[in-house]
Amino acid sequence: MKLGVNIDHIATLRQARGTSYPDPLDAAIFASRAGAHGITAHLREDRRHIQDEDIIRLKSMQPLPLNLEMANVPEIIDFALEINPDEICLVPEKRMELTTEGGLDVLGQYEKLCPTVERFLSAGIEVSLFIEPDRATIEASRQMGVSIVELHTGSYCDASSNEQPVELEKLIMGAQVANDLGLQVNAGHGITTDNIGGVLCIPHLNMLNIGHSLISRSVFVGIKEAVEEMLMAINEYQG
Ligand code: PXP
Repeated sequence: MKLGVNIDHIATLRQARGTSYPDPLDAAIFASRAGAHGITAHLREDRRHIQDEDIIRLKSMQPLPLNLEMANVPEIIDFALEINPDEICLVPEKRMELTTEGGLDVLGQYEKLCPTVERFLSAGIEVSLFIEPDRATIEASRQMGVSIVELHTGSYCDASSNEQPVELEKLIMGAQVANDLGLQVNAGHGITTDNIGGVLCIPHLNMLNIGHSLISRSVFVGIKEAVEEMLMAINEYQG
């Protein structure tokens, strides 16, 4: 199981005061020293946290593979093709949302997503789609030619204890369907050291992308220790 560290909220803190610190690049370097396997950053259209310059530096000045999260919009597609990250994760984006709400509407947006996926794949960039664990959506993702899906764990992580089993069942089914179709299965959103035990019941997981809880914890213990704690929690639940 790999851990991808989403460092967006290091940039959120920086943007709150318009300073040059804290630097997401430093966070990525500390995360790599703690044993993280990848770095994720979301370049949002409104540039509320990560900036273009961050992506340029994260691509060239830290050792881990860079997963660039982005919406399917021309300006960011062109920028991503210039930067050539190791992986692109296409996500839905709404201006007023606090965080990425729900997965991509792969079925509804199929015609718009196809050319984008094709451009990235032909540039040699791996593409992942951030989706709900829904069979038709997973099948459409496969048909589009991507090799990775990231299952949105938000509904499970945010559910009450009564509702969690139903949400977990959906994720288990989704991971099974994706794996049967030959897709790599990643997961992310809302994962904490408290709920990671449940998340790890999802089969065929390759990588978990974790941001907010990990960066929040790092305020108290530092990012290196926060990443180490998360890796320990993963190892503990995996037995
Ligand atoms: N994966 C994707 C595709 C996301 O959009 C996010 C949030 O930016 C995450 C993972 C990480 O979610 P969280 O910050 O809740 O850990």
